[in-house]
Amino acid sequence: MPARNPMDDCSANGEGFQDRLKNVLRYLPAPVAIVTSIDPQTGDPVGLAMSAIMPVSLEPCAMAVAVNRSASSYRSMVESRRFCINLLTSDKVSHLNPFAHPEAKDDRFTHEDWERNGSVWYIRDAPANIFCDVVETVSFGTHDILVGEVYDLYSSGATDILGWANGTLGSLIPIER
Ligand SMILES: Cc1cc2nc3c(=O)[nH]c(=O)nc-3n(C[C@H](O)[C@H](O)[C@H](O)COP(=O)(O)O)c2cc1C
Repeated sequence: MPARNPMDDCSANGEGFQDRLKNVLRYLPAPVAIVTSIDPQTGDPVGLAMSAIMPVSLEPCAMAVAVNRSASSYRSMVESRRFCINLLTSDKVSHLNPFAHPEAKDDRFTHEDWERNGSVWYIRDAPANIFCDVVETVSFGTHDILVGEVYDLYSSGATDILGWANGTLGSLIPIER
């Protein structure tokens, strides 16, 4: 029997392989945020639930998000060139659901703690609201990576952070020592 080539698994970039990647990504904990922007035509707020969020650099202060071009807020993010990363505490999980499901779109921006910083909407008393101007866009596959220079920041100082790990939402809390 011929020896199994470990590269065979890597070259199979099909559906089964995507499922396998999704399975191993259970072990890559990620923050969960509502990333907001504005429709430049109407001024209406838009947003989506996101976990593909990363700091890029401190000089200049920059963050990146990877947004699917099929998301309804994608065009607004690209055209307004603005977004805000709203990190959440676990008690704000009810904010997240409508932003993860197109059919719940009418329930977005309905909580009383939505406020505006200029034209961009953010959640008051969130662990972090990171306001960015898009300075770079990289397209790859189904997604665009938007690199944003940070122009404003708020933080409630909360330590209970909502995240995604092991295929489910969870709370990231300090280990007791
Ligand atoms: C925990 C979680 C993380 C997500 N992360 C991303 C992400 O990083 N990028 C993305 O484009 N969609 C992500 N999504 C999917 C979008 O939130 C979802 O498709 C949303 O419905 C898109 O917005 P729309 O309904 O306005 O089109 C995530 C969903 C969940 C539940």
